[in-house]
Amino acid sequence: MAICWLNGQFVPEAQAQVSIFDRGLLFGDGVYEVAAVFGGRLLDADRHLVRLERSLAAIAIPSTHSAAEWVALMQSLVDQNGIDEGLVYLQVTRGVAERDFAFPASVTPTCFAYARKKALSGDPHAHGIALHTVADIRWARRDIKSVAMLAQVLAKQAAKAAGAYEALMHEDGVVTEGGSSTAWIVQHGTLLTRPLSHDILAGITRDVVLELAAQAGIPTVERAFTLNEVRQAEECLITSATSFVLPVTRVDGQVIADGVPGPITMRLRDAYLARAATLTARSA
Ligand code: PDD
Repeated sequence: MAICWLNGQFVPEAQAQVSIFDRGLLFGDGVYEVAAVFGGRLLDADRHLVRLERSLAAIAIPSTHSAAEWVALMQSLVDQNGIDEGLVYLQVTRGVAERDFAFPASVTPTCFAYARKKALSGDPHAHGIALHTVADIRWARRDIKSVAMLAQVLAKQAAKAAGAYEALMHEDGVVTEGGSSTAWIVQHGTLLTRPLSHDILAGITRDVVLELAAQAGIPTVERAFTLNEVRQAEECLITSATSFVLPVTRVDGQVIADGVPGPITMRLRDAYLARAATLTARSA
């Protein structure tokens, strides 16, 4: 029986219920995090919780738990559900109150988390994925990991309908990010990704990949790039907590480079997996 955590209690998922007046449901008034589980341990939980605190502060939801408390309950979910590889999803909403757009005078945040199995080291998508381009119609604070994600729902549905694995979002031909991932290309041997700003989510995997590239001597540049540059790239890749590093071999049906996963991409994927294995190895 799958166990989740809701407002301080571990309960069977089938019994976890939230009010119809929860502001997460009514307004998308909440934020979330997704962290990977590797070798039965949370990966980079500390970095995810720093970002959670930043998202909460940005929309003035008070913190209900310390980072150590979040980590403990997330790890407990991993253990109780017997997850070796997968993810933990954590969400905090402003809470339950009479429907009124402005913040309620007094309200307790709704918090919940659940864990899921997912193949990460043996991800079949590591053989290459297809992207489908869509206009980025999101709001102007994409750095906040908001649960209001209708634009991504529509983008990823359009990608799925087109037979692609992920959406590639752009504004007037300039790439912002993937539907739920960071987008990258390799151009003249240099790894490119968009610089951090309000326009994109500050991906935790993005940070780690930039560190791994520096360690491997792969040059990196943080600048915006266009869909035309993607089409002509030597390599294209996406990163996220639950896909790690995935090679892109097609965009809108067009083959990228020679249509096989690029060497820099696969070096970074291997380095990412090796780091994950080291960080999550249980000491004797
Ligand atoms: N999404 N950009 C967007 C819009 C995302 O939703 C995500 C992650 C990322 C990558 O961030 P990170 O490397 O920290 O996972 C970038 C998660 C995985 C999700 O919504 O399921």
